[in-house]
Amino acid sequence: MAARVYDRIGLLQDTQAPIERRAVERLITVGRLREAHAVFELGCGTGALARRLLADVLPEDASYVGGDVSSRMVQLARRRVAPWPQRAQVVDLHGTLPLPRPDRSADRFIAAYVFDLLEPAYTQQVLDDAHRILDEGGLLCVSSLTWGRSPSSRMVANAWMAVWRRAPRLVGGCRPIRISDFLNPTKWQVEENEVIESWGVPSEILVAAPVP
Ligand SMILES: C[S@@+](CC[C@H](N)C(=O)[O-])C[C@H]1O[C@@H](n2cnc3c(N)ncnc32)[C@H](O)[C@@H]1O
Repeated sequence: MAARVYDRIGLLQDTQAPIERRAVERLITVGRLREAHAVFELGCGTGALARRLLADVLPEDASYVGGDVSSRMVQLARRRVAPWPQRAQVVDLHGTLPLPRPDRSADRFIAAYVFDLLEPAYTQQVLDDAHRILDEGGLLCVSSLTWGRSPSSRMVANAWMAVWRRAPRLVGGCRPIRISDFLNPTKWQVEENEVIESWGVPSEILVAAPVP
């Protein structure tokens, strides 16, 4: 379903940017993206984060690989990373695992507002695959829609859940989750885990290192 929904959403996805910006900027900081050398981004969408990373954040020798299940998003993201042909590529994913990346090939595995779309069992499998792809010293960097801590943001999350149950397409298929609940402590060492709110919408930020 996600591929079809996001094929239709296309560039409209960027209208979410004002809500997600604070969380994504925080993820760049706590995920120490300025020190990254090989980034893989799952669910890269229109390539907005890819462009931000390549233009302003990553060291000049760092590489970027993004992937998405929506061929429309892949097309848009390829356009966004076109100025960096030697360093960036975007691959069409088909929602199957393992992801088409070699073992220990990345030092950052990013997923911004993707796990909140996925089935719990699939999320667990993707996290296992992220563990395989990340190099020693690498970091899993995730942001997702979550449950709020303040009464107003809890209200927003509850209202969101109500819409999601009745018509998931209206909210792009995503719903609040707690990504930290999915991490097996024998496999992941959590370095940062916080909730921040923007426009009343709560986002969870999580950075974790794979335990070898
Ligand atoms: C809410 S959008 C977020 C896009 C981008 N990360 C951002 O923050 O703007 C979710 C993206 O994840 C993609 N997606 C959904 N399921 C996926 C999967 N199983 N594997 C890879 N990408 C997926 C969608 O096509 C969409 O582009």
